[in-house]
Amino acid sequence: MTSDNRKPTTTDAGIPVSSDEHSLTVGPNGPILLHDHYLIEQMANFNRERIPERQPHAKGGGAFGHFEVTQDVSQYTRAAVFQPGTKTDTVIRFSTVAGERGSPDTWRDPRGFALKFYTSEGNYDMVGNNTPVFFVRDPLKFQHFIRSQKRRADSGLRDHDMQWDFWTLSPESAHQVTWLMGDRGIPKTWRNMNGYTSHTYMWVNAQGEKFWVKYHFKTDQGIECLTQEEADRIAGEDADYHRRDLFQAIERGDYPSWTLKVQVMPFAEADDYRFNPFDLTKIWPHDDYPLHEVGRLTLNRNPTDFHTEIEQAAFEPNNLVPGIGISPDKMLIARVFSYADAHRARMGVNYKQIPVNAPKSPVHNYSKDGVMRVQNATDPVYAPNSKGGPQADGERYPEMATWSTEGDFVRAPYTPHRDDDDFIQPNTLVNKVMDDAQRDRLVSNVVGHLLDGVSEPVLERAFEYWRNIDKTIGERIAKGVKEGKGG
Ligand code: HEM
Repeated sequence: MTSDNRKPTTTDAGIPVSSDEHSLTVGPNGPILLHDHYLIEQMANFNRERIPERQPHAKGGGAFGHFEVTQDVSQYTRAAVFQPGTKTDTVIRFSTVAGERGSPDTWRDPRGFALKFYTSEGNYDMVGNNTPVFFVRDPLKFQHFIRSQKRRADSGLRDHDMQWDFWTLSPESAHQVTWLMGDRGIPKTWRNMNGYTSHTYMWVNAQGEKFWVKYHFKTDQGIECLTQEEADRIAGEDADYHRRDLFQAIERGDYPSWTLKVQVMPFAEADDYRFNPFDLTKIWPHDDYPLHEVGRLTLNRNPTDFHTEIEQAAFEPNNLVPGIGISPDKMLIARVFSYADAHRARMGVNYKQIPVNAPKSPVHNYSKDGVMRVQNATDPVYAPNSKGGPQADGERYPEMATWSTEGDFVRAPYTPHRDDDDFIQPNTLVNKVMDDAQRDRLVSNVVGHLLDGVSEPVLERAFEYWRNIDKTIGERIAKGVKEGKGG
């Protein structure tokens, strides 16, 4: 210990250093010596502090907590995490989608709601958003969509013209764009928004019966949103407004919580349901499939090192546990590949050994070696073997979350169901969910957005897009833009 009981500084190798402030020089005014390895360690580590940011969802924040089951849903799933009385540790990360790591929290954008459950049967990740739908339904369009929301090649600027160009040429985006341009496009805080799987997943119970499910994490703090004017002001005053709010709420013991409810569709009803239940641009109306409560998520612990615990947190929709599976949603199937690939590119193949990503249940695998591996592999390193290595238990853990399908290889849209249409559900959102004041703000938000750099012919297509959603809203938007342009 030093004279005032502080711990002595050491190098990363644990060797005590003699100064925190002075480099080793030849006399007080002389040149720095190359063998000042502590100075070199400081400079070298600093130069390597930044890792690449996430491609989408770069700006965010998160916290730790737990999920507690409050209702019995064991008739729908055998997943250990959802059995009565179970309490599971979690980590969550909230984010915006298009902005970079330092961008303002209050830009209009969907918000990520990525949750990792450290279950007794391995990590289960629910990587959702604060909206129940998405902009596109085929993963081939996802990369193009994200590029249209980010920055231009020439100026490096974001560009509303390219956003509306993509959206108006992709009518399936209408439902999500209506959400985005409405009040929920800018939540007041992360604590004041819901989280959704958006996708349909499969649940399988202990008897092997299958169900289709959608998750809704309902905020217990109540939904609150910012107006465009409030958000613009805050973006200038405090770019980290949402990150700060969450951290401070947890610091003062004001722990936010969400009640998880699920919609459950019996397996056999999917084929004839009026909407394609696997189309990510559609919701299931609650009259058709009501909500069942499952449990409560509470956040009660802040990270102590944002980088290791939040920046390096790796969420991946392929982390599914026995009793939970994917559905035929093409977007979801692509995501099952994409995230682990992104993590390998950003953090290296052994990212699951970073403590925030490591399961709390035992790992018995045949992975070995690779950059930055810190866990020792053990022999035997191959299967099958007669040397006592782990052995897959297909009887206890059979491949259950499956469905059958047939057809030739094609590149084609989904076969439409009875009511499948890109504009039916956004029309309901505008007319049955929003009130007059919300519709006024929707029109004003869209007019403001279109007046900011959107040119012909995209502009005329945007009016048509909104007329297709709702004729009156479309006319109001066209009029507002024409007036805004001075006639
Ligand atoms: C982040 C791909 C659709 C929610 C990401 C990342 C990639 C990605 C590569 C960065 C991962 C990282 O570096 O950590 C895709 C692809 C999609 C898709 C290929 C469609 C084909 C969606 C949808 C949702 C969603 C539909 C929500 C329902 C998120 C969230 C994050 C994220 C919340 C941030 C996770 C975190 O906080 O670390 N996505 N995404 N994505 N995506 Fe997607």
